[in-house]
Order: sequence, then structure tokens, then C-alpha cells
Amino acid sequence: MILRPDGIIVAIDGPSGAGKSTIARLLAEQLGYIQIDTGAMYRAAALLLSRADIDLGDLGAVEQFCMTIDIRLELVSGKQVVRANGIDVTDWIRTPEMSLLTSRTSTLKPVRDALLKAQQQMGGRGGVVLEGRDIGTVVFPDAEMKFYLSASVEERARRRCEELTAKGESVTLGETIADVVKRDRQDSERDIAPLRQAVDAILIDSSRLSIDEVLTDMIAMCRNKIKTLGSSS
Ligand code: DC
Repeated sequence: MILRPDGIIVAIDGPSGAGKSTIARLLAEQLGYIQIDTGAMYRAAALLLSRADIDLGDLGAVEQFCMTIDIRLELVSGKQVVRANGIDVTDWIRTPEMSLLTSRTSTLKPVRDALLKAQQQMGGRGGVVLEGRDIGTVVFPDAEMKFYLSASVEERARRRCEELTAKGESVTLGETIADVVKRDRQDSERDIAPLRQAVDAILIDSSRLSIDEVLTDMIAMCRNKIKTLGSSS
């Protein structure tokens, strides 16, 4: 039985560059669900912390500051817009520097506590596809559908490098591999909510699969789950 008013919760976790964002967007579109990119929320929080010049070693100051932040995800003409304290920060949060800073600020308890609460509020009614690192383990351990999307380090770095080059950033594959390895380590070795596959998550390795192949399987599994839960209500 689906107990949530707007549908099921689909959790997609996995390391950076595994294709979560694209897959989550397309999956949400197909299901008529809302996409919640929790990585974008962590990035926006990191940007606000750095702009306000908050000392990341002073957890009291970080906590105080986190009480004042308001991060929203909006869909404008089919494009996701990230708003941090009212300002559109969509284009500022995707640089390699912000990626590394976010990997650091997302280890801080006050940051995680603030965003955890916001994410639970945003997704609690169901009808959502959430992507991140700890959705199936911490944010919604009771999500009806959980996926863990992964790919080899080389493949993820290759995709990231292509993405950044297309945006006009000058990066080499070697630098990108080093970044991916560093972020993987920071994300999976942190004390709070580390990147981990939930025991009941379905593992998908996208290294040799196209987006279409991955998506087709995931949509079928979600529809099947919705149907099964719907018919048992
Ligand atoms: O998915 P992304 O690359 O945009 O995520 C940016 C950073 O935020 C990444 O280093 C891990 C962190 N993050 C997290 O700790 N928990 C989440 N649920 C989502 C992202």
C-alpha cells in the first residue's frame, strides 16, 4: 500500500559522476514526479558559507549560520534552478573548486542536520525522486524504491571532464581522475552519513550502459513497485 499522499519515494545514491542527475531528471519526468537534487543543496550551502566567510572550524558559527539559510529547488521552463537565500546560484555551484569545498562542508554536522530536515520536508509527501549519497540510508531509509548507481572511476572522470570542457573549463583527464578519487574518499570516509549502498538498494553499474539502458530498467522497476503497492491498498 502506498502510504504517502503523492506517490512513492525513489532514492538514487551513488558516487559523483555516476549519472545520477541525468537519470533522476529523466526518471522524475517519466513518472510525473518531482526531482530533488540534494547535491545541489549541499553545493548551495557551501557557496553561502564561503561567501559569508564562515570559519569551518568553528562549528558553533556554522550552526548559527545554517539556521539562516534557505535553499530551494525550482523548475523554471523545464530547467532546475537552485535558489540560495533568494539568489539564483545555479551557475555558480558547479565549478571544480565548489565541488571540492562542498565535499568538505558536507562533512559538517550542522550543515547535514539543516539539509536533512529540509529534504525530509520536501520529499515527505512522496511523488519524488531524490538523488544524493545518503538518501536510502539516512534521509528516507523507508523509501519504497532504492537504487545505488555506480561506475568505474575512469568512466566517471571521463564523463565529468567532458561536461566541464563543454562548459568552457580547461581541465585534463588526469586532474579530473584525481578530483574524483579525492571526493570519493571524502564522501565515503566521513563520520556522518557516509556514501554507502543501503542493504535494500538495487545496484546498477553504469560503466558500460547507456543512459537509455539504465533508465529503461529503472522506470520498469519503479512502475512495477507503484503497481504492486497500489493494488495492495
Ligand atoms: O552530487 P554532487 O556531486 O552534486 O554532490 C556534491 C557534494 O555534496 C558531494 O561531495 C557529496 C555531497 N553530498 C552529500 O554529502 N550528501 C548528499 N545527499 C548529496 C551530496
